[in-house]
Amino acid sequence: MTYVVRRTEPGEWQQLRALRLEALRDSPTAFGTTYADAAALADEAWQQQAEQGASSPSTATFIAATPDGRWVGMAGSAPVEVVPETFCIQGVYVTPAHRGRAAGLAARLVDAAIARARDNTDASWLTLGVHEDNGRAQAFYRRIGFTDTGKVVPCRLDPSRKITILGYERFRLTTAR
Ligand SMILES: CC(C)(COP(=O)(O)OP(=O)(O)OC[C@H]1O[C@@H](n2cnc3c(N)ncnc32)[C@H](O)[C@@H]1OP(=O)(O)O)[C@@H](O)C(=O)NCCC(=O)NCCS
Repeated sequence: MTYVVRRTEPGEWQQLRALRLEALRDSPTAFGTTYADAAALADEAWQQQAEQGASSPSTATFIAATPDGRWVGMAGSAPVEVVPETFCIQGVYVTPAHRGRAAGLAARLVDAAIARARDNTDASWLTLGVHEDNGRAQAFYRRIGFTDTGKVVPCRLDPSRKITILGYERFRLTTAR
């Protein structure tokens, strides 16, 4: 299948909400918020998120769409507020039927988010957090070049579990894999 990977547009808040809620229902421990909390957000909050992901000079959201326009994947890049000169990859999700190395969607989405952060910010470092039990996501990130930083932080939803912080060593060197 041929997919389009692109940055979101400001008015696309309903598609953004639908895919984000799908992600939270599919993978309840993979992200830093719950389905219930996200589902309870007012339309204005989604409109604000969509506007920011589409138009902010720093934060950016990318989606993957099928030829008939269905959104089946997303990834974003944003500054890490508490760590100077550092951006992170966040909100990475691919609809189950579209996963796998052959489709390559997750890599295209993360590549787009990495390129945006590298080409449009002065950040020196690129990181992401992944749940210690999320073996598939960890395998994926390591395959595309993320490595251990040695840092772990408690999971926001369950502080007894850990989030592993991975870093992208090639951030300022090359995009080639
Ligand atoms: C994480 C995600 C975006 C990766 O996309 P994907 O299309 O599944 O990734 P790929 O299939 O290309 O790569 C996954 C790898 O993990 C491997 N894998 C699958 N299940 C695994 C498991 N339980 N433990 C370890 N590795 C696993 C696969 O074999 C594959 O490796 P390979 O290509 O070397 O064979 C996608 O799985 C997803 O949306 N997951 C749910 C949301 C999520 O966890 N997001 C990440 C938040 S940090």
